[in-house]
Amino acid sequence: MCGIVGYAGLEQAAPILLDGLERLEYRGYDSAGIAVLSEGKGLQLRKTKGRLKVLSALVDGGKALEGRMGIGHTRWATHGEPNDVNSHPHLSQNGQIAVVHNGIIENYLEIKEFLVSKGVHFCSDTDTEVVAQLLEYFCLQNGGNIMAAVYTVLDRIEGAYALGILCKDLPDSFIAARKDAPLLLGYGENCKFIASDVTAIIKHTRDVSYMEDGEVAVVSAGEIKVYDALGQPVEKEHSFIDWDVSAAEKGGYAHFMFKEIMEQPEAVRKTVSPRLKDGRVCFEELSLSEDYIRGLKKIFIVACGSSYHVGVVAKYNMERLLRRPVDVMLASEFRYADPLVDQDTLVIVISQSGETLDTMAALREAKKLGARILSVVNVVGSSIARESDDVLYTWAGPEIAVATTKAYSTQLVLLDMLGLYFADIIGSVSKEEYARLAEELQALPTKMEKVLENTEEIKYLASRYFNHASVFYIGRNLDYALGLEGSLKLKEISYIHSEAYASGELKHGTISLIEDGTLVVALGTYTPLFDKALSNIIEVKARGADIVALTTESRRGDMEKTVENVLTVPDTHIILQPSLGIVPLQLFAYYVALQRGCDIDKPRNLAKSVTVE
Ligand code: G6P
Repeated sequence: MCGIVGYAGLEQAAPILLDGLERLEYRGYDSAGIAVLSEGKGLQLRKTKGRLKVLSALVDGGKALEGRMGIGHTRWATHGEPNDVNSHPHLSQNGQIAVVHNGIIENYLEIKEFLVSKGVHFCSDTDTEVVAQLLEYFCLQNGGNIMAAVYTVLDRIEGAYALGILCKDLPDSFIAARKDAPLLLGYGENCKFIASDVTAIIKHTRDVSYMEDGEVAVVSAGEIKVYDALGQPVEKEHSFIDWDVSAAEKGGYAHFMFKEIMEQPEAVRKTVSPRLKDGRVCFEELSLSEDYIRGLKKIFIVACGSSYHVGVVAKYNMERLLRRPVDVMLASEFRYADPLVDQDTLVIVISQSGETLDTMAALREAKKLGARILSVVNVVGSSIARESDDVLYTWAGPEIAVATTKAYSTQLVLLDMLGLYFADIIGSVSKEEYARLAEELQALPTKMEKVLENTEEIKYLASRYFNHASVFYIGRNLDYALGLEGSLKLKEISYIHSEAYASGELKHGTISLIEDGTLVVALGTYTPLFDKALSNIIEVKARGADIVALTTESRRGDMEKTVENVLTVPDTHIILQPSLGIVPLQLFAYYVALQRGCDIDKPRNLAKSVTVE
């Protein structure tokens, strides 16, 4: 949540900052602002409520500000409503220090009271302003030593932060600090950067390093000096980002979400191929020994949002393959649930961004309890990846749309592969079943392509039903898990009320909501329970529901006997069926949102990376 970027170099900073912010806007878009420093014009700051384009117009694409160094911010509001004053950067009282911040300063009220008692006047309702004001306060106390003030402030503040600090007294450099919020450093020739995410700076450099908790960086055009929490210099390890710049561009598509839906076959191919050799699943990057895997007593999966939905599918599939208990829990619940996890538990953490705060906290809790952590992450070098015992990367490439699609699909297939890999070692899967699954894994991207070739019917159904106020997704077993994600996709981008139910639960309450014209998306891709799914469809149809059904090609005929609107996906191994089933559901959500004129890539109130609790 919130994106920050900073630049020091030989070029004018403002256009570079605006461009970086545009790429970070998926992290929050309630307001935006930049501060630039130049010898002649001093510290210039512009900020405004609304999307980045409002700020960009305000500063004439950056031309209105002069200076070769600056910091910028795009905000997802936590403390203080999204208005001009609460936008970042925040200035200290004497206008000498500007601060951008991602995270939450938990003890800001106490600090604010202290500063107010010292006569400091606050302008905003934000937690961030206390950082700017406290910096000025300690700077004055320390005879103007800004670095000493930074360390004193970092000692005083509690919570999570990635900070960018621009100070009039430091004409050639700005300062960055991090704790529990992502921040990376970028090294270009005669230009250096900070950014919440690599997409903001990849145009300028692929040479980056990741700040660790407690570190402070001093960034100038020529170099970045990094110090630890005690002020000792730190040698940073550099990483090379090999993402294609165009991967983070729309490339002719109307929306990132559509582009990312279309990229799924390739993303799944890239995730599967290196780990499937001669029909055998191999995870060369895993350090888990075969003895450890054989001795596994329990697996616990933790994640948030769509990554959690992957966990729900994985629970069904892993338990089926391994015949060992697999629990799945929302990370935000796990961390406070006193979970039954110990050194005999493998905790699998799933996260696209690798920065979700609750997921990160759950990981740390599990570690404290002695569990081993295996994470499934998309963003290379992210915090979750770095703190895990083992990491399996999904090779989805940068995902920009707030609503995840290709990251979900790659996570799903990776978890299935992991289940198969474990099952083989444990000896709980027959040779025949293993071979069939491996074969279907190989065929999956091509089958996904086939689903993506037939979008006309989905488009038609979206145009027919886009005005419904409420939708229910129903299904059994893996179809229930699939419905959770299908329903979330629809509600998050189209703002239609939508819920997913296990079909068997309908009669325990929800069926009372079904009336003439209620839209029910009925999932019947889990063929072992097809007949039961059909009975549930007949029940809601009898109560007046409009049905859109999804099933496999082999069951189309059976479904069409009962339902007029039938979508199909190719048949595959039952374990992999959700990987195909999700595609039409994503497209349905997309086309419905398109019909409703919604802001598909940046739905209201949401952010892609949730780095606050
Ligand atoms: C946000 C995103 C979702 C994502 C969830 C978890 O809500 O909009 O798409 O599933 O966070 O994020 P993570 O990066 O941990 O997978």
